[in-house]
Amino acid sequence: MTTIALITGANKGIGFETARLLGAGGTTVLVGARDEEQGRRAERALGGQGADARFVQLDVTDEKSVGRAAEWVRTEFGHLDILVNNAGIARADEDWSASASTLETMRAVYETNVFGVVAVINAMLPLLRAAPAARIVNVSSEVGSIGSLTDPENPMSRLPSSLPYPSSKTALNMITAQYARELRDTPIKVNAANPGYCATDLNGHSGVRTAEQGAGVSVHLATLGEDGPSGQLWGHLAASDVTDAEGALPW
Ligand SMILES: NC(=O)c1ccc[n+]([C@@H]2O[C@H](COP(=O)([O-])OP(=O)(O)OC[C@H]3O[C@@H](n4cnc5c(N)ncnc54)[C@H](OP(=O)(O)O)[C@@H]3O)[C@@H](O)[C@H]2O)c1
Repeated sequence: MTTIALITGANKGIGFETARLLGAGGTTVLVGARDEEQGRRAERALGGQGADARFVQLDVTDEKSVGRAAEWVRTEFGHLDILVNNAGIARADEDWSASASTLETMRAVYETNVFGVVAVINAMLPLLRAAPAARIVNVSSEVGSIGSLTDPENPMSRLPSSLPYPSSKTALNMITAQYARELRDTPIKVNAANPGYCATDLNGHSGVRTAEQGAGVSVHLATLGEDGPSGQLWGHLAASDVTDAEGALPW
């Protein structure tokens, strides 16, 4: 049976690279994108490289769009083996300090990075349960790790005290842990990915890792074997001074 993977925000950046890597391995990749033109462009680019790629319109903040996407996957494939919740935004206020954060920015970031993930998982869960051993990957970040940001020895502790993006990823980490707990008696594994600081549009291409390296983390968690972990934050270790060090991170 062909493996079916849905990647949200797959039209560019880490999501596109995740679709490319999974597609190159023979997985049918469902290219989630909120904008049809960009999604179709990604579908064509992946198809041109030999992948079985299908665009699916998916705005994670729009429950109707999420519902339509789930219905389409059900009709076309009847199950879903891999869900990569990759779509995310990093909007910040001009002043990055916690006390200057506006609720407007926080709400916008949470809509995509937190509520969007819950909407997509809940809509897709019947299809994930219908697969033999599904994998859910929530693309998080080490900036959401309370352990890392409060450890004076960790370089992450020197980052500004911004609220919206880091706290949205902290919420996503707990959401990951809670789904893993709910699904612990099933073959489904749920993990959070830390791509590391990758050069993408999200950060004006200032990242030190490539989008492909970041995608490799999602692919690792999406293709875990039966003995692999569930309920972990795993990926790039920013405390290390090499850009390719990977492992489990503190929540
Ligand atoms: N780059 C890094 O250093 C880094 C580090 C840690 C974690 N991450 C995480 O990695 C993930 C991918 O980020 P990236 O760096 O690849 O950024 P990116 O190049 O800006 O890509 C973000 C993707 O998310 C999509 N998206 C945003 N809002 C959406 C919505 N409401 N519905 C559906 N799709 C939506 C974007 O679509 P549009 O093109 O339509 O905007 C785009 O496809 C994010 O979750 C981010 O937080 C990135």
